[in-house]
Amino acid sequence: MSTHNVWTHKGTFLLAAVGSAVGLGNLWRFPYLTGENGGGAFILIYALTIFAVGIPILIAEIMLGRNSRRSPIMGMRFLTSTHKTSRGWETIGWLGAASAFIILSFYSVIAGWALHYTGLMLTGSLDGADAETIGASFDALLASPPLLTLYHTLFIGASALIVGLGIHRGIENGLRVLMPALFVILMVVLVYSAAIGDLSAAATFLFTFNVADLSLEGWLQAMGQSFFTLSLGMGAIMAYGAYMSSDASLTRTAFAIAVVDTAVAMIAGLAIFALVFGAGLDPGEGPGLMFVTLPLAFAEMPAGPLLGGVFFILVLGAAISSSISLIEPVAAFLVERFDLERPQAVSAMVIASWALGLLTVFSFNLMAEDTLFHTLFGRSAFGLLELLTNIFMPLGGMLIALFAGWALTHGEVMKEMRTNESWFRLWRFLVRFIAPAAVAFVFLRTIPQVEGYLLPSIGAVVIVGAFAAGRTFLAERQES
Ligand code: PFF
Repeated sequence: MSTHNVWTHKGTFLLAAVGSAVGLGNLWRFPYLTGENGGGAFILIYALTIFAVGIPILIAEIMLGRNSRRSPIMGMRFLTSTHKTSRGWETIGWLGAASAFIILSFYSVIAGWALHYTGLMLTGSLDGADAETIGASFDALLASPPLLTLYHTLFIGASALIVGLGIHRGIENGLRVLMPALFVILMVVLVYSAAIGDLSAAATFLFTFNVADLSLEGWLQAMGQSFFTLSLGMGAIMAYGAYMSSDASLTRTAFAIAVVDTAVAMIAGLAIFALVFGAGLDPGEGPGLMFVTLPLAFAEMPAGPLLGGVFFILVLGAAISSSISLIEPVAAFLVERFDLERPQAVSAMVIASWALGLLTVFSFNLMAEDTLFHTLFGRSAFGLLELLTNIFMPLGGMLIALFAGWALTHGEVMKEMRTNESWFRLWRFLVRFIAPAAVAFVFLRTIPQVEGYLLPSIGAVVIVGAFAAGRTFLAERQES
């Protein structure tokens, strides 16, 4: 059975996709990765990947959703049968569902930290505190399973409530209030940090680049981040695409999502680094940038607690509009496949993902080190879950690109894209060759054992890709 449900307004897909894309990836992960990787050079690679690989895959993923008008798993089943291709392509749907399920489990725990910090800021608990107190307060939060579990439960519960209400009453209505509010808050934070912090140091740090500053690892992280930030390869965009109006322009929408997502990351980066440099702090703190460095900057500035509170509300709002997009593909599948009522489907998905999230909770305390888990997997449970999604996500993106590039016919793609032949050719070249080669590059990074073989492998992928591309072009030229 197909959902055949369509968003009430033509522009809602854009709103929902931006809601999914803009999240912890922009506000928490992007600034700290940029800080760790020396600034401008990282951003250059990140932006290049967004435009050369991210947008073509985004177009492909929306196309598969809108074409099938079903949840990712059922949608891929439908497309493989209508295209008489291997059912192996259904992997796209299953991988997506598995990644969404896993990401939700730890995304909710980290968003829970933002909930804690919203409280700390608004009550002025950290006002005037020194670096040691703020560091100790973060450590104390991580050391407390009950507190982490409480925040995780509250966050995932709120997300479930929105999705449980349905795509119109819950997701659409929620986003229509949330997204403009987030935009206003982001602007307030930017203006305030420009007034009080060191905006020009932040701009210099972000926008002057020397590619030599970037390690190979940094290149790969920049590419991985561009997938994560656009919510690619996980079925979230495909699930939302299934409800997209047939009249809305696919290419223009995909561009708009990428541009808004990138702009939010840049604005958040500018605001955060302006505060960090203004307070004379270190930009390379890593994952603690938002939870240790930034609160320290807030502690020292006038009206810091208020601005800090507003900032963490922004983080929470952005995180919830992303987490609902992680629930939707799996919930929609359970509704379509097993005829469950929506609230039951959402509960099943969320309760299971909540339980898996406890592993992340315990990774920071009870299972922090020296456990059987560490011995078996060489990392924390959270580390393992992150690693799994780092594999599934690019793999899903690559399969989506390959399926859309090779299995869909020229006519179908033109019907969806409605562009001229040159754009179509550019897009097809990118999804057939460039995106899979780039993803293979990201993918290799996630398998630590192959590190020594990294460069030769990348070389091999590029050569094979170029060879295949050349052959296709020659064949096409002969045809025409
Ligand atoms: N794009 C989100 C972010 O940047 O925080 C994270 C995310 C949401 C990834 C939804 C994947 C997804 F399906």
